[in-house]
Amino acid sequence: MTRPASGSTPLARQSSRIRLVSTSLDFQNSWSIIWLLHTSIVDKQTMATLTSCLRAARPIVRLTAPRVQRRCISAYGYEQAKVLAFKDYGEPKDVLTLHGHSISPAHGDLVTLKFLASPINPADINQIQGVYPSKPTFTTGLSTPDPIAVGGNEGVAEIISVGTGVKGFKKGDWVIQKAPGSGTWRTHSQTNTSNLVLIKNKDGISPIQAGTVSINPCTAYRMLQGFSDMKKGDWFIQNAANSGVGRAAIQLGKLWGYKSINIIRKRESGTEELKKELEDMGADIVVTDEEAMEKSFSKQVKEWTSGGKEQVKLGLNCVGGKIVTSMSRVLSEGAHLVTYGGMSKQPVTLPTAQLIFKNISFDGFWVSKWSEQNPADKIKAVEHVLDLMREGKFRDVPLQPVEWNWNTKQEELVDAVQGTLGGFRSGKGIFVFKNT
Ligand SMILES: NC(=O)c1ccc[n+]([C@@H]2O[C@H](COP(=O)([O-])OP(=O)(O)OC[C@H]3O[C@@H](n4cnc5c(N)ncnc54)[C@H](OP(=O)(O)O)[C@@H]3O)[C@@H](O)[C@H]2O)c1
Repeated sequence: MTRPASGSTPLARQSSRIRLVSTSLDFQNSWSIIWLLHTSIVDKQTMATLTSCLRAARPIVRLTAPRVQRRCISAYGYEQAKVLAFKDYGEPKDVLTLHGHSISPAHGDLVTLKFLASPINPADINQIQGVYPSKPTFTTGLSTPDPIAVGGNEGVAEIISVGTGVKGFKKGDWVIQKAPGSGTWRTHSQTNTSNLVLIKNKDGISPIQAGTVSINPCTAYRMLQGFSDMKKGDWFIQNAANSGVGRAAIQLGKLWGYKSINIIRKRESGTEELKKELEDMGADIVVTDEEAMEKSFSKQVKEWTSGGKEQVKLGLNCVGGKIVTSMSRVLSEGAHLVTYGGMSKQPVTLPTAQLIFKNISFDGFWVSKWSEQNPADKIKAVEHVLDLMREGKFRDVPLQPVEWNWNTKQEELVDAVQGTLGGFRSGKGIFVFKNT
């Protein structure tokens, strides 16, 4: 501890000492207060002042509080934050670490955010592995000697303080990231408002809904609207129908009057239950991948589509491999087959006849690029889906929430990330921030 300047009065010495102690401890927990009282010669009046200062800085601090790890709040308004980050590409379990840093008070057009919910999407894992085309931002700005990148690309946060130059955003607003890459697996962050999309109306939606709206539902939304001229009564066919995107496509398609053929992978148990779950959501037909690869599948599709009078105008491919060949066979002339994922890691092989005689188009879609090029359309899609959620017309994907508190251990967070690419999961992982 630094000594007070010589020649100062006893009271000045005392308050100087108190200030130094409280600064260095950052009001870490109530034990620091007890320690302070034991080591300082504090008169009654200074004690009262000190107690009220501590109460104002952190009302929940009590002298008799039990010994629990508490989050640090700086005496100067610095936010203490934690991030799940990596400095090298690799498997999440090998490269992710939990790192703490502090955030200075917001100034200018900066806002300080407290995250509420951030999902763990398959693309996040590919990004950590270094195999995803969009690279995260590596920075030394979070007080590390080597540059690190924060994991995650989607999530919702609440604004907890704003700089004096901020316009159009206020404390308490909910925001989502305009573009991926800034890292959402973090308790807090500070950013410029130009990187954020304001959730204009947060009434009636949960943090989990707001935190999962911008990638999967928007991908389904755009693929259903942007490729084929879909009209009421038209069909689309998709694989990985139980994925986040697949479930969004089923529900949006139903609302817009499209009919759907949905392919899921056969599982050891629970296949029929999953079929029923998707039907309850609005799927017209649900088949397994084995059923869709049988010779009779084309004949069945003809029956479902009134002898082929109703058109299968669109295919959505999340998987790749042989299943896409089967899907392409049942598409109508002039249809589009849009690939947006490659979960099987198998290439897409197509019968040449589909190209020559049926003039089917094979397209790709990437929501990141589309959002970058069409920011207004992206916001429109987000707001539309949020409205549907509010009205109870859009169900959440099954989730496995992982609570993130100030003292949550690194292993718990990393374990939640590591399993994401494994198949047959009962729900998508999502960090839900509580007492951070
Ligand atoms: N291009 C874009 O803009 C865009 C946007 C959003 C998502 N995506 C991609 O879409 C995919 C799904 O994302 P999501 O968030 O919707 O995922 P999700 O909810 O976690 O679902 C994963 C899906 O992939 C299936 N799957 C897993 N491993 C598989 C394998 N080896 N072979 C075949 N299917 C497998 C799962 O089926 P089981 O239940 O049978 O395991 C499940 O249907 C990811 O590849 C993601 O990167 C792309």
